[in-house]
Amino acid sequence: ELNQPLAAMKTYLAGARLLLQRRRPEEALSSFQRIDDLIERMGAITRQLKSYARKGGEAFEEVDLRASVSSALAMMEPQLKARVVKINRGIPRHPVMVTADRIRLEQVIINLLRNALDATKTTVEPQIDIVLQANDAAVLTVRDNGQGITDLDSLFEPFYTTKKPGEGVGLGLAISSGIVTDLGGRLTARNRDGGGAVFEMQLPLVGPDHAKKQEAAE
Ligand SMILES: Nc1ncnc2c1ncn2[C@@H]1O[C@H](COP(=O)(O)OP(=O)(O)O)[C@@H](O)[C@H]1O
Ligand SMILES: [Mg+2]
Repeated sequence: ELNQPLAAMKTYLAGARLLLQRRRPEEALSSFQRIDDLIERMGAITRQLKSYARKGGEAFEEVDLRASVSSALAMMEPQLKARVVKINRGIPRHPVMVTADRIRLEQVIINLLRNALDATKTTVEPQIDIVLQANDAAVLTVRDNGQGITDLDSLFEPFYTTKKPGEGVGLGLAISSGIVTDLGGRLTARNRDGGGAVFEMQLPLVGPDHAKKQEAAE
């Protein structure tokens, strides 16, 4: 699983070297950003492997999903600023608590945002909606008005990507859905009627009320 991002990093590095030689530092910088992203991703993979290895789930804690969304947006700020994208946020006033590994959860949200950004590259008035709701479960919806999903069946498969080599490795959704499933939740995708994609992350809510409900349902 680590070989793919390693190979991609080598490619980016070679690209960056070439760009620097040709005195195109701006473009080289974006290659470095991609390498940085890949390191981040590899970190996520090794963290995942580590937590599989110990199986204790010590990294799990109660997390307010509102904070995860803010923090994911903060981490995406450079990429968001580089584009003219309207971000609509629908966040409740009360906490939305779930049990999760904070870092991995943010990783999932960042992946969804990055995909939405990529998907709206050619959209005239790009918009991304981020809506958080708490009903029976916590539901985070990331909706874009991009090109839509071409192949809904392959979406979550490792290394499935429609992006050019160097722009995507196809691991984001595979890892993300693994993370969400580990937390007892679900990550689903569909196309919108008017064009664009909708991703929905559902997670069990924390709380005595919910513990009871779940017991009853089992
Ligand atoms: N918001 C989206 N709109 C349209 N297609 C998407 C969206 N998110 C993901 N996809 C499709 O799913 C593929 C896999 O996504 P992902 O696993 O994150 O890998 P990567 O982003 O590296 O390609 C993408 O290449 C793209 O074809
Ligand atoms: Mg992706």
